[in-house]
Amino acid sequence: MRQWPDDRVAFGGDYNPEQWPREVWADDLRLMEAAGVSFVTLGVFSWSWLEPSKGEYVFDWLDEVMDRLGEHGIAVDLATATATPPPWLSAAYPEILPVDREGRTLWPGSRQAWCPSSPVYRDLALALTDRMAERYHEHPALAMWHVSNEYACHNLPCYCDTCAEAFRRWLERRYATLDALNEAWGTAFWSQRYTDWADVLPPRITTTFGNPTHELDYHRFGSDTLLDFFLAEKEVIRRHSPDVPVTTNFMTLSGFRLLDYHDWAPHQDVVSTDHYVVDALPHPRAELSFHGDLTRGLAGGAPWMLMEHSTSAVNWQPVNPAKRPGDTLLDSLTHVARGADTLGFFQWRQSRAGSEKFHSALVPHAGEDSDRFREVCALGAVAGRLGEVVGSRVEAEVALLWDYEAEWAVAGPCMPSAALDYVTAAHTVHRLLRDRGVTCDVVHPDADLSGYRVVVVPTLYLVSDEAAASVAAAAEAGAHVVVTYFSGIADPDDHVRLGGYPGAFRELLGVRVEELFPLRVGETVALEGGGHGTVWSEDARTAGAEVLQSYADGPLAGRPAVTRRAVGPGAAWYLGTLPDDATLGRLLDRIVAEAGITPVAAVPTGVEVTRRRSATGSWLFVLNHTDDDCTLQVTGHDLVAGADVGPVTTVPARTAAVVREA
Ligand code: GAL
Repeated sequence: MRQWPDDRVAFGGDYNPEQWPREVWADDLRLMEAAGVSFVTLGVFSWSWLEPSKGEYVFDWLDEVMDRLGEHGIAVDLATATATPPPWLSAAYPEILPVDREGRTLWPGSRQAWCPSSPVYRDLALALTDRMAERYHEHPALAMWHVSNEYACHNLPCYCDTCAEAFRRWLERRYATLDALNEAWGTAFWSQRYTDWADVLPPRITTTFGNPTHELDYHRFGSDTLLDFFLAEKEVIRRHSPDVPVTTNFMTLSGFRLLDYHDWAPHQDVVSTDHYVVDALPHPRAELSFHGDLTRGLAGGAPWMLMEHSTSAVNWQPVNPAKRPGDTLLDSLTHVARGADTLGFFQWRQSRAGSEKFHSALVPHAGEDSDRFREVCALGAVAGRLGEVVGSRVEAEVALLWDYEAEWAVAGPCMPSAALDYVTAAHTVHRLLRDRGVTCDVVHPDADLSGYRVVVVPTLYLVSDEAAASVAAAAEAGAHVVVTYFSGIADPDDHVRLGGYPGAFRELLGVRVEELFPLRVGETVALEGGGHGTVWSEDARTAGAEVLQSYADGPLAGRPAVTRRAVGPGAAWYLGTLPDDATLGRLLDRIVAEAGITPVAAVPTGVEVTRRRSATGSWLFVLNHTDDDCTLQVTGHDLVAGADVGPVTTVPARTAAVVREA
């Protein structure tokens, strides 16, 4: 075994040599050296090659690949290969196949076709894990274990009978009695009261709307079930390999909301994630930054690994544009700017066959004589020069609260507006703060909030009493707390808190809302003093808060839209609507100023800045996403350009600087 490479930002990606004839392997090593690759993830989808029939293990090819990588000084993040079963396995044990909400079996022929609750699948996967760990735990190239791959990506939720049984057992552990379950699920409604555990089913397709708490618990159950699977694989690895770090790659990108990563993260020796830029989003690069901050929050502020991203196009959108020149560098360095110490890609060599043949890779179809490969080599060289940054931490004075349970609940059946997306307020505030050079830690509501000058609470619909108290305590201690619309409404059982919204935050905000007025898609409402609200509005009355802006038209004309209540040395700000960017930006300017936060650096909009710091120094990241050169005041050594800079530094259009500050 070997140490994870930390003398540089680790650079590499998924390596699938089984897709290529042996003669290509030597070429792979030559090109990896040229590109500065320091690690690969190996074996993610290799089960059918490692165990071609039940109990027949074939390791010689993997031995050879591991040996060669080791000889070339390339660290291996070795997968347990349990992400996708081989065809013989699904044929012999069809009961492992997942079932969708409509009761349809999801057949093999793609990947991850296994039921999360299947004991049969689990036994077979653990047997393979055991063999892998036994064989490779002392291999000199082994530096990390990669359990499965992107748990839940395609096989959750599963609604099969095995899951139904496992769900009942999970519910019995959670509630102990049927009375407690009936109370939590509110089954007095629509004749849903249960009198026998055996009658409880997964939330399969129904005549009309299902029970929201039933659905919420099914999310919790799914996340817990797969976490348990991960822990079982980890335990098997640990028996052979107690000292090598173990991780599984999360998917902290927008739209993936199947696992509660706050539960998963403490079980990772290092938090790793995959991120792909989604072209159709209104602000794809702001979303990238958000998810870097979220991953850092999951890691408790520690450096994390970007296990996968793409050099250029992906293959899974309706239209998959290639990245513009500069974007590969900018995207990669955005992750490092937000705390990543590893830059991994899917995948090393672009496939010739299979459904990912048009997904970009480090080595494109065009081969080494291509701009893309030259760009990859340049990026690998930059990663090499960034070694001194490894281990440092990102500085942030703002906490933005994020909770997968609240996200699940907001997406539940029959809400006031299906057009309300949990992420909208969070992403908007984060983007506008990013535009202002203000960095956020995206953290769970239970996180320690004591060190933050500003705490943003976006659409925290479902919240525990404890978390609400911690937000209030942060305000009492002097933080500026910013609560947006549709927060504090429900408790963890998804029961509405009575007496007026926003229930859990009513007293803190000094605001009482009698009725919700979600806006229609595209509808806006004018605000006194200029600007307009979007997405949402609420019929609020103040009870101790100062009104900053009221609605100027519509059914709520004259009612408060934005308020502020002084709390000790801090304040509690309330946003009953989502103001347009300019209006919200002005408000955030005021909040940031009142909180005494100084932006990381003074730069034009479109230039992103963060700072990482360690005991030995600080590094200013400047990511110029614009088409114009940008100048700023900073003196030091730019690790990207490999040159001393300052006191006035120019960062050319569509490139980046990482300045070790003098
Ligand atoms: C990830 C997955 C990779 C590859 C990639 C394509 O979800 O882990 O194996 O499929 O997406 O973007």
